[in-house]
Amino acid sequence: MRLTIFGSGYVGLVTGACLAEVGNNVLCVDVDERKVEMLKRGESPIYEPGLDELLRKNLAAGRLSFTTDAVEGVKHGLFQFIAVGTPPDEDGSADLKYVLAVAETIGKNINEYRVVVTKSTVPVGTADKVKAKIGSAQQARAAQVEFDVVSNPEFLKEGAAINDFMKPDRIVVGTDNPRTAELLKALYDPFTRNRERMIVMDVRSSELTKYAANAMLATKISFMNELANLAERMGADIEKVRQGIGSDPRIGYHFIYPGMGYGGSCFPKDVQALSRSAGDHKFNAELLNAVEAVNKRQKMVLFDKMRAVFNDDLAGKTIALWGLAFKPNTDDMREAPSRTLLESLWAAGAKVRAYDPVAHEEVQRIYGERPDLVLAKSATDALQGADALAIATEWQEFRSPDFDLIASQLSKKVIFDGRNLYDPSFVKRFGLKYYAIGRGD
Ligand code: UGA
Repeated sequence: MRLTIFGSGYVGLVTGACLAEVGNNVLCVDVDERKVEMLKRGESPIYEPGLDELLRKNLAAGRLSFTTDAVEGVKHGLFQFIAVGTPPDEDGSADLKYVLAVAETIGKNINEYRVVVTKSTVPVGTADKVKAKIGSAQQARAAQVEFDVVSNPEFLKEGAAINDFMKPDRIVVGTDNPRTAELLKALYDPFTRNRERMIVMDVRSSELTKYAANAMLATKISFMNELANLAERMGADIEKVRQGIGSDPRIGYHFIYPGMGYGGSCFPKDVQALSRSAGDHKFNAELLNAVEAVNKRQKMVLFDKMRAVFNDDLAGKTIALWGLAFKPNTDDMREAPSRTLLESLWAAGAKVRAYDPVAHEEVQRIYGERPDLVLAKSATDALQGADALAIATEWQEFRSPDFDLIASQLSKKVIFDGRNLYDPSFVKRFGLKYYAIGRGD
């Protein structure tokens, strides 16, 4: 089948590459010329395991191509995926200007039946706006070509996106038209094996499902972070509590890891946007607001511990920091808890020697060169001349370090672990002090 994907960001690229991989002819459209040139050469602008290989393979096979020409895009595909960004407005609600600009382009250029699929995370009611926009753009040129608008939210996790797309837990399709549901079923058939994985519903329920999934997961995390803060004040160990509750299948082990607060491009944005949408419907979403507030506070927890240990005097201290990306296997720094920590340390006059396996370039792009930040060559190199070690991302390579070496390098012999990577009693054997999340001192 022929399909067009507007937006070569994270969701658009993964969707395009995976749909090409199973034999479709995919044209990706993006307004950013530099990005399109890179992609034509087979270079991915984002770090995602397995994506480069898929891009190159499908480019070479002629099933995947890139352009800045949106009109060509409208001509190309029976399916027109909208996967452009929905950045937060000043008040946190999702800004639809890019989505509606694509809708307008489609309306201006549509010549035969098209299925318009909204893949971006969009507030409930957006499909109706897209429909209206395409309709009015057609009217302006006295055209009346048939089209459908379908909601098909994406549930990819960064770092595991290819696998998530190829082997989805579920594919949610929101449409009021059985014929379009059949077309989407055919498109996704290679990924579903049995069709029960596709859940068809009305458009608005599908739009809300996306927010509901992310808000639920964010709620689990904030709940555990709240409990962690309680545990350490009560002399309990949150890691034991986590195992104790996770064994109940109604609760489950997934997504109950306490830490430095959730980051990334999705949870913070989506929880906020849903809460703002609730406001638009004159409803105060108290739980969502609390989830957000708890998360904001959690991003400060490690810094507060450091301040207490250093008697509020971090000026002139050097902190080694392991991990910068918001989670492992990505270079994404959006809303990363490490940023709150870095910025708090700098404001307190401390220097940071940071190491991340892949995020250095991104950190440099955000913060530029500055005297209080050194990007170290390795985890060991980050320890040189440092007073203390902080851990902000649970990369595999940090899980079993040489504690003797750490103890010999750190003048204050203290580790602040924002990811609960180690057994506290084991770390203490090396003469190190160990502060983690929800585990006491
Ligand atoms: C998230 C969802 O997991 C995906 O299902 C969804 O498709 C995606 O958002 C999206 O809306 O596009 P992602 O942001 O890539 O995916 O990352 P996650 O793996 O969900 O992690 C989010 C944050 O939660 C990270 O900062 C992570 O450290 C934190 N987290 C996760 C915890 O603090 N504790 C946990 O137990 C799990």
